[in-house]
Amino acid sequence: MRNLDEDTITQAVLARLADTPDPRVKEIVRGLVRHLHEFAREVRLTEAEWLQGIRFLTATGHKCDDRRQEFILLSDVLGLSMLTVCMNNRKPSGCTEATVFGPFHVEGAPHYDDGADVANGAKGEPCEVSCTVRGLAGEPVAGATIDVWQADADGRYDVQYAGLDQPQGRGVLRSDESGRFRFRTVVAQAYPIPDDGPVGDLLRATGRHPWRPAHLHFMIQARGYETLVTHVFRKGDRYLDSDAVFGVRESLVGDWVRQGDGTWRLDFDFVLNRAQAA
Ligand code: BEZ
Ligand code: FE
Repeated sequence: MRNLDEDTITQAVLARLADTPDPRVKEIVRGLVRHLHEFAREVRLTEAEWLQGIRFLTATGHKCDDRRQEFILLSDVLGLSMLTVCMNNRKPSGCTEATVFGPFHVEGAPHYDDGADVANGAKGEPCEVSCTVRGLAGEPVAGATIDVWQADADGRYDVQYAGLDQPQGRGVLRSDESGRFRFRTVVAQAYPIPDDGPVGDLLRATGRHPWRPAHLHFMIQARGYETLVTHVFRKGDRYLDSDAVFGVRESLVGDWVRQGDGTWRLDFDFVLNRAQAA
């Protein structure tokens, strides 16, 4: 195995993987090598460009900490996160579609009673959200655990404010006997994903904007059903067709309606897929 050249090196690397004990690891690393080599050949990667790529990935790692995951952001803006969601969340028609999880979910958010105000002081126009959780046959899903989280009127999540001592715009609710749950909050607004790191540099270098259309995040878990991670997007938002992370689905667009008293209301119904028997 000497004198390898650009025509023989890929096979040589693949051969070196022959003894990988775990078949799935073998499949993934083989695929990665084949596609990486093919990519380098296709674009005729120069050594300077290779080094720039290494520096970019290094900077991406340096930007990560407990509150910031720049690699996930990179995956998001390259469409890899949404591709993975699409491949792993094929559901029968009629089920609510899934979309990206995003980096702003927080484990252990406060639990709220039905109808409570999850804004908890977040800035924005008041809004009431009323939802149902059902199965495909229309059966109400009682006792589902619903995590909601959202940005405020300035397009920021609570975790993006230094020194905020209480969760705002997030909470955990439970559906009642008829599968219903309600909460009060503030109207979601469009916001730019964090673009002060290497991912922002990549967006600017490729002439892209960092904006996501206004949305509410939901994660719905119920016994006997597949967990649903999704958003409801705001109808009419200017970024619905150019979401920085490719997460919009037509079926997830909801109508925030202004009420006579000036407040807003959103009604949205979720349909869960039955869990596959183990
Ligand atoms: C979000 O919706 O919270 C989000 C998703 C992907 C990247 C950044 C933010
Ligand atoms: Fe979000």
